[in-house]
Amino acid sequence: MEKDEISVRSVDESVKELLSGAGKDIPLFKVFMPESVIEPVRQVLLSGYIGEGPRVEQFESQLAPWFGNDNVLAVNNGTAALQLALRLSDVGFGDEVISTAMTCSATNEPILAMGAKIVWADIDPWTANIDYTDVAAKITPKTKAIMCVHWGGYPCDLDELNSIAAEHGIKVIEDACHAFGSTYHDKPIGSHSDFACFSFQAIKHMTTVDGGALTCRSKADCERGRLLRWYGIDRRSKRKDLRCEADIKEFGYKFHMNDVTATIGLEQLKFVADTLAKHRANAAQYGQAFKDLNAVRLLSYKPDRLSSYWLYTMRVKDRPRFMEHMKKAGITVSQVHARNDFHTMVKDFRTPLPGIDEFTAEQVSIPVGWWLTEEDLEHIINTVLEYERRCQPRIQEIKRPSEKCEKTPAHQSDL
Ligand SMILES: Cc1ncc(COP(=O)(O)O)c(C=O)c1O
Repeated sequence: MEKDEISVRSVDESVKELLSGAGKDIPLFKVFMPESVIEPVRQVLLSGYIGEGPRVEQFESQLAPWFGNDNVLAVNNGTAALQLALRLSDVGFGDEVISTAMTCSATNEPILAMGAKIVWADIDPWTANIDYTDVAAKITPKTKAIMCVHWGGYPCDLDELNSIAAEHGIKVIEDACHAFGSTYHDKPIGSHSDFACFSFQAIKHMTTVDGGALTCRSKADCERGRLLRWYGIDRRSKRKDLRCEADIKEFGYKFHMNDVTATIGLEQLKFVADTLAKHRANAAQYGQAFKDLNAVRLLSYKPDRLSSYWLYTMRVKDRPRFMEHMKKAGITVSQVHARNDFHTMVKDFRTPLPGIDEFTAEQVSIPVGWWLTEEDLEHIINTVLEYERRCQPRIQEIKRPSEKCEKTPAHQSDL
């Protein structure tokens, strides 16, 4: 057997529990890739121009309405967007960034890459989003930015975070990698803060295989970001000699998107509204079916914002038992992200985070995406309801969402 075959097979094995195509289970994530990408990609591959060019510009201008913002930079992944945002916020060695530990490690590693310190703020255990009151309490003269994450696509308290930032002259960076298409106060995510960072990684609502986008509140940041995403060089400027630039004023990165991945993105954009609608319709069915359960509780979502429902996260009693119950029924479930604050790389920043303790003890996500058939949905709903029935006699004490979160009929207003 060739060496490549072995490695491909082992990758398949490791992802088969989460992704479709490898097993018989209902997957938690699935790559959306319409066959119609093939022809435009073939054309661009054979066009003689595959780097950052007209397709990237076209992709950026088609993304703008989705973000409610014309200051869009396409980049090669969401992590690059985050690092660029930190750099544009002038975060450097010894500075502090207030962030959440309840996220993908990609949110926080760019902070370390800038040489900055992470100050953990706690989360609301009924949304998994950063608690702005804890953010306010943790500001110091060294704080340069607040990093927030819209867990599963449900938007953070952006008005409060932005007013804290304005009061202290610091930046808000939204990690919106779960939140393509989410809205807050009827305006798209991407139009609220200094920066918002999106991911087009394989299993997001739309994918460019790998890719990302950064939105900037100010045109000046966007123009500086355009330089920094490609070594600090203005790709549009005329040069005397083809590849020899006159002067580079500040160093940058190789974070640009290319025309091949942008072409995939342009095709994907034609489908993303439908994809989002399906995620939301499925979430609404769960919201209706699970609203009065005890062993399984919904997160507490406000009606002034709309999630993209990249994840459908719930809180369950006896999670290991729940996960086993779902697995036996052929339904893939997962905690998706491990809290970041327990890693050795951030051992110096440890602090008590009771909201995260509470959330991580019970949280789990069930499949909610566009790939679910009516039969899948029915099967998932019945399997969850069966868990509730089996738990009933054992439930003694029922903990309800805290006062802080409005008890709107969770997830129903979102359809
Ligand atoms: C919350 C969050 N932030 C950042 C990232 C990083 O995005 P990318 O993989 O495009 O670099 C991800 C990726 O899945 C994510 O889920």
